[in-house]
Amino acid sequence: MGTHGETRPDALGRRYDEVRSYTERLAAKLSPEDQTVQSMPDTSPTKWHRAHVTWFFETFALAPAERDFAPYQDDYWFLFNSYYEAVGPRHARPMRGVISRPGADEVGRYRAVVDKRMREALADEEALAKTAGIVEIGLHHEQQHQELLLMDIKHVLSLNPLRPVYDGVRPPRGAPGGVGWKEYEGGLVEIGHEGDGFAFDNELPRHRQWLEPYRLADRLVTNGEWQEFMADGGYRRPELWLSDGWAHVTGEGRRGPLYWTEVDGTWYEHTLHGTFPVDPDLPVCHVSHYEANAYASWAGKRLPTEAEWEHAASLEPVGPANLADTESFHPHAASGPDGSLRQLFGDCWEWTTSAYLPYPGFRAAEGAIGEYNGKFMSGQMVLRGGCALTPPGHARASYRNFFPAGARWPMTGVRLADGGAS
Ligand SMILES: [Fe+2]
Repeated sequence: MGTHGETRPDALGRRYDEVRSYTERLAAKLSPEDQTVQSMPDTSPTKWHRAHVTWFFETFALAPAERDFAPYQDDYWFLFNSYYEAVGPRHARPMRGVISRPGADEVGRYRAVVDKRMREALADEEALAKTAGIVEIGLHHEQQHQELLLMDIKHVLSLNPLRPVYDGVRPPRGAPGGVGWKEYEGGLVEIGHEGDGFAFDNELPRHRQWLEPYRLADRLVTNGEWQEFMADGGYRRPELWLSDGWAHVTGEGRRGPLYWTEVDGTWYEHTLHGTFPVDPDLPVCHVSHYEANAYASWAGKRLPTEAEWEHAASLEPVGPANLADTESFHPHAASGPDGSLRQLFGDCWEWTTSAYLPYPGFRAAEGAIGEYNGKFMSGQMVLRGGCALTPPGHARASYRNFFPAGARWPMTGVRLADGGAS
């Protein structure tokens, strides 16, 4: 369900090896026991991610490409199907943590067998003609799961009283300074993917949107600013909150972002590279849409719409971004030239006020792969940009990430907007 650029066998084969081996490098930092834990219904065990992305290639690329196709294990189709109704029944998502067998090593063998068969299919012109498009989707799908693997293991390790370290280096010290604002005239603009590069179906078709004049903050909200919101009763003032958000925040007794803990009056933050006192210069992360919205109300601003965000991002030069390849696995303080929109394609996913809906003229693909994006267009909010857990090459201006408004375990942050469509 996407458009794709590179279908030459050598280029696709090389990308296949790169993406597949990166998953294994991320998982290699974890023991088999780490890889088995499911810490809540939304998260999946590392081992499950490794097997599921392999099942995706087996189901959608090998099955149509191989003349005498047989599944590696019949049971794996039940265990590692995520949500594809058209492919058949599947193991319940909240129960993925009970799959102690196959073990992490056996999942490694499954990956190796599928990789061997995939390399043969990628070298066979006839097979490649049938599968190049779906292989490209499979690679982008695996990159999505690389980010999920990191998001999920962060949650798993956060619940261990020993607070084990995954990996990564502490973000460099920074002084982000005050917020600057960039002005946009708005008017009739176009958003949605354009060009030959890969895009998921939900980024299409490109279409027109009307924007009133608006302004965007040139950096993300910092931890220091978030602490001012907390100190001013941000979590105790219902007038700042959406009704559903207030129910969330009071029901769960929240006092701060996910992964923040107060000890003797000091707030600490759990990260993938350890637990440290909250650094006021770093962007706040792991806040829900509800929290982001309440903060914006407190600040007398609002969140951007996804069309505003994309229009502004499409005008910015693509510079270096803090994605997973910096190996901080945590947002950095804003830096970069004045007058640019900083932290766009990395650091934290940015909540928008836009509900995740089909673009005008959206069509899901025929068959099971049509279930990839379209069927989730209900009850979720769009996030834009990318984060410090996003693999390089997986962030672009038209990319539409989406989560329910209460989700906090993705690496989510806040960019404020003002003016226009308030
Ligand atoms: Fe998936």
